[in-house]
Amino acid sequence: MLHGNNKSDEEIELAIKEGFSKIVVDSPDEPARIAAIAHRLGKRARVMLRVTSGIHAGGHEYISTAHEDQKFGVPLLPAGVGPEVLEIIDKLGNPQSASNAASANDAVAGASPSADTSSESKLDYSVKYPYDMSHVKVSDEDRELAKAMNAVADGPALAVLKDIYSRQEDLELVGIHSHIGSQIHDASAFIEAARRMMLLRKTFYATDAYIMPEVDLGGGYSVAYTDAEDSMDIDVELGRLAQAVASINKALGMPAPVISFEPGRWIVAPAGVTLYRVGTIKHVTLPKGTKDEAGNPISERTYVSVDGGMSDNIRPALYGADYTAVLANRDCGGAKDGNGNLKDSMLARVVGMHCESGDILVHECRLPRNLKRGDILAIPVTGAYGRTMASNYNQALIPAVAAVSDQDAHLMLRRQTIDDLLDLDVS
Ligand SMILES: Cc1ncc(COP(=O)(O)O)c(C=O)c1O
Repeated sequence: MLHGNNKSDEEIELAIKEGFSKIVVDSPDEPARIAAIAHRLGKRARVMLRVTSGIHAGGHEYISTAHEDQKFGVPLLPAGVGPEVLEIIDKLGNPQSASNAASANDAVAGASPSADTSSESKLDYSVKYPYDMSHVKVSDEDRELAKAMNAVADGPALAVLKDIYSRQEDLELVGIHSHIGSQIHDASAFIEAARRMMLLRKTFYATDAYIMPEVDLGGGYSVAYTDAEDSMDIDVELGRLAQAVASINKALGMPAPVISFEPGRWIVAPAGVTLYRVGTIKHVTLPKGTKDEAGNPISERTYVSVDGGMSDNIRPALYGADYTAVLANRDCGGAKDGNGNLKDSMLARVVGMHCESGDILVHECRLPRNLKRGDILAIPVTGAYGRTMASNYNQALIPAVAAVSDQDAHLMLRRQTIDDLLDLDVS
C-alpha cells in the first residue's frame, strides 16, 4: 500500500509495477497523475481516497491527522458546513436517535442496494441525485439524511471520487480511507469517523451508482508507553466499532463494506526495547519552586546521558511523548517499598548525546541512585517509530537490531559504521 502527501512519479510507478494492493490518493491532483502512469505502463492501479473526516483524535496536534487544516487527505465536507448538518451525521445509526433513513437513494439509476425497503419513510425519487423533495411525501428522517448527503455531495472528497471513477480504464476505485490520529484509547472517535465515511460511501452511491467495496479506518490504537498509560483493548473496542458500522450501514440502507485497519504501532511497539549505555551523569540543583510532572516540589534533577537520543527515537523531542527507563544490566540491590519501587532512587531525565537541549528520551523517571557510567538502560515499547525512523542527526550512527528470545539472540540489522557514511561521499 502506498501512502504519502507528496508521492513522486517514480514511487507511483514502482507501486503500480510491483502490484501494491492500493495507492492512497492524498490530494486532488493525484488521480490524473496516477492514471497517466498506469496508462503508460498498460496497467490498472487500485486506488483509495484519503478523506479528512473532521474528526479530531489523538494527543498532540502533530499526531492528529483528520482535521481539515493540515497536509493530509481531502476534506469530506465543504468549508463552513452548518452545525445542523453535523448533528444529523452524528445521529446516523445511533440507536439513541430516531434517524433510520434507510432508503434515501433507492432510485439511483440502474443500482440495487440492499436497502431495507420495508420502511414507510422510503423516498420515492424519480430523479437521480440531487433530489427534488418538493413533490414527494418524505419522513423527517429521510429529509435530514438527504440534507447531510447534499452537504457531502458538495464537498471536495466527492469531487475527487468522481474524478477517480471517471478514469476507470486506468484506475480501480477500491474505496475510501480515514486516519484520525494516534494513541486513541477507545472506539468512540473511530465510530464518529466511520459515520462520516459511510455517509460519503452512500452519497457516492447515490450520485454515481457505485458501491465502494472497502473502507479503511486507519491506525491509531494506543499502546502504553508508561505505567500511567493504557493500551487499547482491541477485543472490546473493535467489537463496539463492528457493531456501530453494521448499524450505520443498516440506517443508510447500504451493504457493509470490507473494513480494513493499519494497527502497526499496536503490534510492533511493545515488541521492541532499546538499550542504551549510560555516559555522563550530572546532578543539577533546581531553582526554588520547581515541580515534577506530578506537581511535587523538587530540588534536584539528575541528567543521565546515553549513547543515542533523538536520532533513534524522535518522539519525545518532536511532540513530548512519554517513555520510561529501567536499569537492565544488573540488580541494583536496593531495598524496595511496598509497591516494588526502589527506596534509594533519584528523579532522572534521560537525555541523548546530540547538540540539542530538546534531545530528551525520558522526561522523568526514577532510577537507582547508584547508577553509574557504563550501566545499560532499557527503554521499553520502542518497536515502532524507533529504528525504522532513525536518522544520522549530527552524523550519529544508526544502531543495530537484534531479535531475542529467552534462549537465543539473532542479529537482524547490523550497526551502521563510519565507513557506511563515508561511502556516500563521492568527491
Ligand atoms: C495513514 C496512516 N495509517 C496508520 C498510521 C499509524 O498510526 P499509529 O501508529 O498511531 O497506529 C498513520 C500514522 O500517522 C497514518 O498516517
